Amino acid sequence: MHAVPDPAESTEAPSQGAAPSAMSPIPIVHASAAVAARACAEEIADLIEAEPQCVLGVATGGTMTGLYGSLKEVIRERELDLSGITCFALDEYLGLPEGDPRLFRSVLETHLVREIGLLPAQLVTPDPALAFEDPSEAAEQYEAALAGAGGVDLQLLGIGRNGHVAFNEPGADPAARTHVLPLEARTREDAAATFGGLELTPRRAVTVGVGTILDAKRLRLLAFGAGKAGIVARALTGPLTPDVPASLLRGHRDLAVHLDPQAAASL
Ligand code: GLP
Repeated sequence: MHAVPDPAESTEAPSQGAAPSAMSPIPIVHASAAVAARACAEEIADLIEAEPQCVLGVATGGTMTGLYGSLKEVIRERELDLSGITCFALDEYLGLPEGDPRLFRSVLETHLVREIGLLPAQLVTPDPALAFEDPSEAAEQYEAALAGAGGVDLQLLGIGRNGHVAFNEPGADPAARTHVLPLEARTREDAAATFGGLELTPRRAVTVGVGTILDAKRLRLLAFGAGKAGIVARALTGPLTPDVPASLLRGHRDLAVHLDPQAAASL
């Protein structure tokens, strides 16, 4: 099942093809990022309604902010019971103090716990302190937690300008599980404003692997804005290659890509 935007929300008809094929998904181009966010939020709400114990894979980044706002609205409108759901984060920075507002845990707590009303225990995130001390133990624990929850039903994903998904940087192993890795210069540059400069930006992160991501039942990739147009075109129409980790998602049987017109401009 793929999210289709509500025509009532849309100022122009979305261009959506037939069912996206496994190898080259036909992106859903929405009238705006807000319309796309609403469509994804509706799909998540449908899933929660149908499967109240579902597991959501949640992402961070500016792309997700509007989506979480829409999700809050849809959940209120539909009076959904969230008590059975669990959310797993994709990744986390290493080297920040506990409780730092720039930790993805803190960002997701704001959106999902404070705003939407999940209990903190319903949000599972990699432990950056353990990942710093003992990367393989942290990775093993996270994979075990995911498996224990029965795997991810719907995984939200953004895309970095270099094609990364979660923090799987170019050169990613398509079969990788959760691991610790150094961040690429471009990824750190994009995050530098948040940290007050490149020197202060974390150099390492813990991330689920591409293999972990591909295990989710549904993948929903969102990209908005002109800055993503080039990498979206490479990821969707270029070769399937570890050089563009997002392209590897095209091997998944249920991938939908939600774009605004600016992000779709080079397709
Ligand atoms: C970070 C996250 C990714 C996210 C990317 C894009 O690097 N680890 O999961 O997709 O940022 O962020 P934005 O949505 O702000 O462009």
